[in-house]
Amino acid sequence: MSRTLALASFNSAITLSVCSLTSAASPRFPPLLFSSQRRLSHFNSTPFSHYIKHLPSVLAMDSSKAGPVKELPVGLDEATEEEYASQSKLLQEFTSLSSIDKAWVFKSESGKGSQAMFSISQPNLLANKKRKYMLSSSISKDSNNNVNFQWAPFPVEMTGVSITVPSPSGSKLLVIRDPENESPTQFEIWSSSQLEKEFQIPQSTHGSVYADGWFEGISWNSDESLIAYVAEEPSPCKPSFDCLGYKQGATKDKECTSWKGQGDWEEEWGECYAGKRQPALFVINLNSGKVHAVKGIEKSLSVGQVVWAPPVEGIDQHLVFVGWSADPRKLGIKYCYNRPCALYVVKAPLYKSEAAESDIKSLEELTVVNLTQSISSAFFPRFSPDGKFLVFLSAKTSVDSGAHSATNSLHRIDWPTDGKLSSSTKLIDVIPVVNCAEDGQFPGLYCSSFLSKPWLSDGCTMILSSYWHSCQVILSVNVLSGEGSRISPADSGFSWNILTLDGDNVIAVCSSPVDVPQIKYGCLVDKANNTTGWHWLNISSPIFKYSEKVMSLLSHLQFGILQIQVQDVSDCLTKGAAKSFEAIFVSSKVSDAPDPLIAVLHGGPHSVSLSSFSKSLAFLSSIGFSLLIVNYRGSLGFGEEALQSLPGKIGSQDVKDVLTAIDHVIEKGLVNPSKITVLGGSHGGFLTTHLIGQAPDKFVAAATRNPACNLSSMVGITDIPDWCYVEAYGTNGKTIFTEAPTAEHLTHFYNKSPISHISKVKTPTIFLLGAQDLRVPVSNGLQYARALKERGVETKVILFPNDIHGIERPQSDFESFINIGVWFKKYCK
Ligand SMILES: *[C@@H]1O[C@H](CO)[C@@H](O)[C@H](O)[C@H]1NC(C)=O
Ligand SMILES: *[C@@H]1O[C@H](CO)[C@@H](O)[C@H](O)[C@H]1NC(C)=O
Ligand SMILES: *[C@@H]1O[C@H](CO)[C@@H](O)[C@H](O)[C@H]1NC(C)=O
Ligand SMILES: *[C@@H]1O[C@H](CO)[C@@H](O)[C@H](O)[C@H]1NC(C)=O
Ligand SMILES: *[C@@H]1O[C@H](CO)[C@@H](O)[C@H](O)[C@H]1NC(C)=O
Repeated sequence: MSRTLALASFNSAITLSVCSLTSAASPRFPPLLFSSQRRLSHFNSTPFSHYIKHLPSVLAMDSSKAGPVKELPVGLDEATEEEYASQSKLLQEFTSLSSIDKAWVFKSESGKGSQAMFSISQPNLLANKKRKYMLSSSISKDSNNNVNFQWAPFPVEMTGVSITVPSPSGSKLLVIRDPENESPTQFEIWSSSQLEKEFQIPQSTHGSVYADGWFEGISWNSDESLIAYVAEEPSPCKPSFDCLGYKQGATKDKECTSWKGQGDWEEEWGECYAGKRQPALFVINLNSGKVHAVKGIEKSLSVGQVVWAPPVEGIDQHLVFVGWSADPRKLGIKYCYNRPCALYVVKAPLYKSEAAESDIKSLEELTVVNLTQSISSAFFPRFSPDGKFLVFLSAKTSVDSGAHSATNSLHRIDWPTDGKLSSSTKLIDVIPVVNCAEDGQFPGLYCSSFLSKPWLSDGCTMILSSYWHSCQVILSVNVLSGEGSRISPADSGFSWNILTLDGDNVIAVCSSPVDVPQIKYGCLVDKANNTTGWHWLNISSPIFKYSEKVMSLLSHLQFGILQIQVQDVSDCLTKGAAKSFEAIFVSSKVSDAPDPLIAVLHGGPHSVSLSSFSKSLAFLSSIGFSLLIVNYRGSLGFGEEALQSLPGKIGSQDVKDVLTAIDHVIEKGLVNPSKITVLGGSHGGFLTTHLIGQAPDKFVAAATRNPACNLSSMVGITDIPDWCYVEAYGTNGKTIFTEAPTAEHLTHFYNKSPISHISKVKTPTIFLLGAQDLRVPVSNGLQYARALKERGVETKVILFPNDIHGIERPQSDFESFINIGVWFKKYCK
């Protein structure tokens, strides 16, 4: 649920749309990287008696015989094996929980009540994939206004389905199955009873349809005869050679008497997009099955998030889409909202009637119009139900400052009903960027998605989820007046995420670090004193069912959100930077003495750890750790000034904030000061490795996932070298960014990096690394781990050969957290 950002946060409450990955079965216990440890098994070098007390008697007897010693998986010794076994059983119970990815509501035919459909996913450890399935429920209200959800008896698995999109009337369902290898993409149109139509779209027309949650866009037109969508452009023609040399006029087809060269290399959009061709716009005619590429869009523009503009005189004539320019080059875009983008409108390639030809008056009309020239970022376009205005989100502060994510703003364009559009269209501010909010006031807009239909029945109130300090909240915004309010309850510290609307009611999920997700149904009610308010009903559902064991463990936990005062207010250049930040503290209700602590640090740095439920963190708290989840300054959700206080000061301000938060809980007597550990990935790994270098006596163990350890090497190999500049130099870094860093730059990067403190490190550290990571390539973590090992610091490395930056494939995520749990237990005995 949290937005994982540039250097991704590893709070796994997050449901990211994971890029699909081919899953070569990876061994259950991949080899430890330092293969010398393979031979130097702990067992052989430790007196045997040491183990007797840890071992079940049978095992102890077995190994005391003269026979061959039982072979242990690499990286395990007999003492830890037992811990490993017991923890992995518990972790499996946490892992198997499913989550809701999307939901839709359909009005029922009778006009009474409605029907909801939930798209759900669940990790499948054995297959190392996510299972996806659908579960439906009918919603009815009884005479007392009680809301009932009648769930279908079983869910239905959606094997091989990449994406599903219901039509506007709800009478048809588009199901897209994406190709493996070179096979065609399959479009299926389902009615309420059966498959109506099926189309195979060959690779020569386009590659796979984007279903990444960012470029992704699939839009039905008003009469449901056309669908506009975003897919990979077809493979470019490559030079062909045969026994006579270069073959002129060669086709794309394979021939056995010739061979293909590579042609020019093309930039890609970095992390998560390796091997993906440029996103391009297409329209399929469901009557003829013909697919048309949308013409007139500049080659350098990557397109996404397409929607049909309201029909003019009953005809769907225009498409609105987001365009990202590749000028000067494509840089990593995943979690990076600082890539300039604009809304464009383009004439649709075909009208309802093929008589459209005569409507095309001039060539000029065919060109693409840039609707948002006066602003550096515009995305998530949504038309109002009456088609009179277009609302969109902007990350202009992110683009303008260079910070990979920042405070959003919301804007409106009044749409010309005659369809006559121009690039001088006026942009109206609906919600401006909040620089520094008064205490308790709205801290600014931070959205990671919009519903496809976010409107209440008045046609101008939009319902959306946003981050408000450490919580995700639901907001209602009148886009005509700009008035907004928080409609999810504010008191509990829970996080709320919107799933879909049912008329004027909201279906949402709420959770906390110690409360599993629950479905809520929000109704607008009139109160006695003539004001309206939101009332939230509990909906029981079969979706979030945990075992009794897990529920019992969770019931012994509690959480709170702590306000942490900034230490050095004199260093603060803005009012917002001097305001307190937050940390979520999770602890046992029942322990007599303070438990060992894990400080949990999100990535980014412009990301946030939300107070929502995270399976992996709940697992760690269930095995006996308190958690201090720090939203250091620079996190999303606290206003723009606080966020912008960090670039230029990474490795110092953020490190200090974390230490301040830890000292706060120590002073309050909430934790055991001699059993403190730290966990973080990406920028959180940068902080983890900084902390064990800058505060070497503080931490008994550390765990880090794809950490950024050496910016001077990272800058040359990451997909976002500009990140290194902006975070190490501040906004000025955006100006001095170059693909050829000077020796002076490299020295600056080195001095900002954890590697510059390595000589002080003593803390045993485990590294979880993804070999396919383009964001912080694996060499960064490996080189640091080797340097620690050289200095005699205990290290353990697990390398996942097929994982990218967020180590999220089910088996890898599982093996990461089981090892983190065992590692921390070992040093907190
Ligand atoms: C459209 O406007 C945006 C916003 O300023 C700009 O970045 C982009 O280059 C423009 N697009 C074209 C194709 O000129
Ligand atoms: C509420 O407002 C209506 C008119 O809008 C008025 O007739 C009614 O008396 C009001 N009720 C209360 C409790 O103020
Ligand atoms: C209306 O009543 C609610 C409680 O039902 C209260 O919280 C709110 O402040 C009241 N509003 C006004 C304007 O009196
Ligand atoms: C919903 O459930 C919670 C406990 O899980 C309870 O405290 C709350 O009162 C319930 N709300 C309603 C409206 O029944
Ligand atoms: C840090 O990066 C620099 C620049 O690539 C490299 O020369 C140096 O060896 C790296 N040091 C370590 C210990 O990773």
